[in-house]
Amino acid sequence: MELVTAVIGPLQTNVHLVADARTREAIVIDTAIPGLPWITGELGARGWRLVLIISTHGHWDHTGENAALQAWSREVAAAGGPADMARAGGPADMARAGGPADMARAGGPADMAPESAPALAAHVGDPGLAVVAADGRTHRPDSSGGAEIAAHPADWYRLLDPQPLFAPFPIPPCIPAAELAEGGVIRFGDVRLDVLHTPGHTEGSVCLVAHEAGILFSGDTLFTGGWGRVDLPGGDPDAMVASLARLATLPDGLRVFPGHGSATTIARERPWLEMVARDRRLPL
Ligand SMILES: [Fe+2]
Repeated sequence: MELVTAVIGPLQTNVHLVADARTREAIVIDTAIPGLPWITGELGARGWRLVLIISTHGHWDHTGENAALQAWSREVAAAGGPADMARAGGPADMARAGGPADMARAGGPADMAPESAPALAAHVGDPGLAVVAADGRTHRPDSSGGAEIAAHPADWYRLLDPQPLFAPFPIPPCIPAAELAEGGVIRFGDVRLDVLHTPGHTEGSVCLVAHEAGILFSGDTLFTGGWGRVDLPGGDPDAMVASLARLATLPDGLRVFPGHGSATTIARERPWLEMVARDRRLPL
């Protein structure tokens, strides 16, 4: 898993690009305005193909470029962007195919036998992006036409009808299509992100855990030495207590990348997180 981060916009949002080194698929987490040039520039420079746009919650500093970025990704897809080559599998990928793991992904020998080489190229390698809902339903966004937008359904209304809340520029609405919910999973290439529903800052705030990479994307739920505001519309102190108590159960070694501010670790935050869990209230 590869990760690049930039601090963008008037509220200094951490915008993350997460990519799979093998398939060169990438997702973006929290598209603050004016992040479009940085996001598209990084994707282009690294030859990454954007497959999903994620908002950890529906505040404007985490959703602002969703619509513009989706429009851009649709244009790239329509033009047959360079990273489409990587997904379809060039000659190098073909040469690597045939090992047991690739066979399994392609569906086994029976599936492979009748295929011509070009048809095979479309099947081997990676099964592509999947967003698995808590009930086990697998949603496979068709990113060949552009990246879908994913957020927790409880915050979708914020993406559809953005509340500017002192934003210094208009926030374009966008249309979420992929549900991030408790117990859900986002998979692409060898990357797996588990979805934790962590309300409190908003109704539909989520954290994403990449256990293998040892990384937690905590949105505006957990910051270095603090938590996201609970006094804005949709905020809920009791829900925040429960969410922070839950994060206190995560492994010490997880590196935490919040929506704003510096990175930290669960170990470093553990003393006060455990106090919140014990006292069942936020520190004064
Ligand atoms: Fe926020």
